[in-house]
Amino acid sequence: MTSAKNWTPGSWRKKPILQVPEYPDEAKLAEAEAALASYPPLVFAGEARRLKRALGEVAEGRGFLLQGGDCAESFAEHGADTIRDFFRAFLQMAVVLTFGAQQPVVKVGRIAGQFAKPRSSSNETVDGVTLPSYRGDIINGIDFTEEARIPDPQRQLMAYRQSAATLNLLRAFAMGGYANLENVHQWMLGFVKDSPQGERYQKLADRLSETMSFMRAIGIRAENNHALSETDFFTSHEALLLGYEEALTRVDSTSGDWYATSGHMIWIGDRTRQADHAHIEYARGIKNPLGLKCGPSLEEDDLLRLIDALNPENEAGRLTLICRFGHDKVADHLPRLIRAVEREGKKVVWSCDPMHGNTITLNSYKTRPFERILSEVESFFQIHRAEGSYPGGIHIEMTGKDVTECTGGAWALTGEDLHDRYHTHCDPRLNADQALELAFLLAERMKTAYEEKKFAING
Ligand code: PEP
Ligand code: CO
Repeated sequence: MTSAKNWTPGSWRKKPILQVPEYPDEAKLAEAEAALASYPPLVFAGEARRLKRALGEVAEGRGFLLQGGDCAESFAEHGADTIRDFFRAFLQMAVVLTFGAQQPVVKVGRIAGQFAKPRSSSNETVDGVTLPSYRGDIINGIDFTEEARIPDPQRQLMAYRQSAATLNLLRAFAMGGYANLENVHQWMLGFVKDSPQGERYQKLADRLSETMSFMRAIGIRAENNHALSETDFFTSHEALLLGYEEALTRVDSTSGDWYATSGHMIWIGDRTRQADHAHIEYARGIKNPLGLKCGPSLEEDDLLRLIDALNPENEAGRLTLICRFGHDKVADHLPRLIRAVEREGKKVVWSCDPMHGNTITLNSYKTRPFERILSEVESFFQIHRAEGSYPGGIHIEMTGKDVTECTGGAWALTGEDLHDRYHTHCDPRLNADQALELAFLLAERMKTAYEEKKFAING
């Protein structure tokens, strides 16, 4: 068995830790963790390695990472329709990106394990009543009652089972025919069909179908070509609840290495990325691909220290830096981080999270103006172009449902519309229409980035 120096799956327990729930009954918590430790893994080491290789290609400038899903999955919204609608909105985005930019797209959902939420404040006050904050369905309940807000370890077992069921359906969708490129027209969602994005998508799908017919004519068919009939889809979540993660950390029998088996990729949030704290300690010892959220407070020296801790061998694909500064701050912070990383020759995937730095409150709803999201994405591409570095991915909160959580987009949702279909359990998500609009913009920017790169190499 090999492992990082002085590391065990439980070595994080000796480190300072932030964002931990206070479970009233330690014995019940230990029981739940022991049960989890006896359950089968959700994902396999070989799959995590495959994702790492694909991300390694992205780090080298070949391909693009599309990562997205709910801010927080919930027990209440667990149903086949929700998963299917998410998956097809995600596939639509992926097709737009692949076809538009002519590059492979690495598909990673924030799904099948994205339950635990870090909070800015440990309490919440409503009408003069103060209760502990909601920390995600894996920890406590969203209802504003004293009872619901008490952390319950049994919830970890429910989250595990929900993740297993979600993953099962996703695997079926990815491998069982649904993701077949010949279905590209069927992926259109009812409400997207009638929007300007729908028309654009239809045109692209027509072109794709034409290409497929040509390929079929020369003998390349979905029946005998996995690349056409199946897709690689991976799962990811924030590794926040470390007891849960530890219980699902297993040794891979082929390599002897430790892997998180709760999801293919895990990331460390912006609030828990202190180099000498528990979350970094846990992450450094597992071999999965990792994400690290980078917000405005991250200094260059700290980033380099974190990179050394998390990716000491400078392996391409191991580490994705998920940048979330805000549309008005990205120009102040991204260039200094890029310069430090490039100067030291560190191999990373640069990904843009245009959601978490752009949250505002409107009519007492947390929302995100779509134009600010687009603006942060635009700046992300411009800055990488100016620095000569590679813009490798996007990280978004989205759903396949027709929600009204972010303002703007083709339907010009306003603050007045938010109450209509505001369903998120945490942060506001892009609806399927807004996600598709973003994909078209990304495809254009990616295409330009590749063409310029080719030009630079040839010239
Ligand atoms: C999130 O991704 O939902 C999140 C809490 O992000 P961050 O850690 O970047 O604030
Ligand atoms: Co969020």
